[in-house]
Amino acid sequence: MVEVWDSEGVRIISVLSRKGGVGKTLLSVGIAQVLGEAGFAVALLDRDPEGSAMGWQHNAEAGGVTLPYRVIGPIQAAQLGSGVDFLVIDTPPNDTRILRDTARQSNVLIVPLLPGAGEVDRVQETVAALGEAELVEGAKLGFILNRLDNDNVSASMPGVLEELGYPVVAHVRKAVGYQRAFGNLIPRDLTPPFEQALRELEVLA
Ligand SMILES: Nc1ncnc2c1ncn2[C@@H]1O[C@H](COP(=O)(O)OP(=O)(O)OP(=O)(O)O)[C@@H](O)[C@H]1O
Ligand SMILES: [Mg+2]
Repeated sequence: MVEVWDSEGVRIISVLSRKGGVGKTLLSVGIAQVLGEAGFAVALLDRDPEGSAMGWQHNAEAGGVTLPYRVIGPIQAAQLGSGVDFLVIDTPPNDTRILRDTARQSNVLIVPLLPGAGEVDRVQETVAALGEAELVEGAKLGFILNRLDNDNVSASMPGVLEELGYPVVAHVRKAVGYQRAFGNLIPRDLTPPFEQALRELEVLA
């Protein structure tokens, strides 16, 4: 169990899913970037042993790119202190323990979801795991539809989630620009969905 930080006034936004490859790291980075560009002090905690978010930062440093947030590991998170407005947390797939541990410390929980009936089935595992976590008072939960295409499956997703009662806070289209952004800033024309999610979740006005 990692008691991640102990600092007052830091708001914690986590990106969670039991399923792999749904866009947890991309959305974590996108949200950290938008908040950093809005002038907040942002740390992005990489709780995935695979270290994709860490890799993003290393790549940026190697390319001389300055990111408007810093990526940290669990040890640095434990010593976070004040001076950070937002802690965004990227989590690993297939790890219910880290998922629950992160969820119970989060003020805002974001679950990415890809188009497809199987994807909707799989997200129920995440919802069930979150249901067993004791959340902080006033915690907000939102779903982000990711990698939306111009097809019928993608078009049906908002309705399917509405029927399930899962609040969708943003739609992110499938775009090669997101893939190319690894280790870089996400281009401005691709960041509006992250801003939208943060407004829907009442993080940004
Ligand atoms: N909207 C999108 N359009 C195009 N490519 C995307 C999109 N979202 C994510 N990807 C790509 O899909 C792959 C998986 O995304 P990402 O690494 O963010 O998922 P993840 O949930 O963090 O995966 P893991 O569970 O392995 O940590 C990456 O190559 C990423 O660039
Ligand atoms: Mg990841």
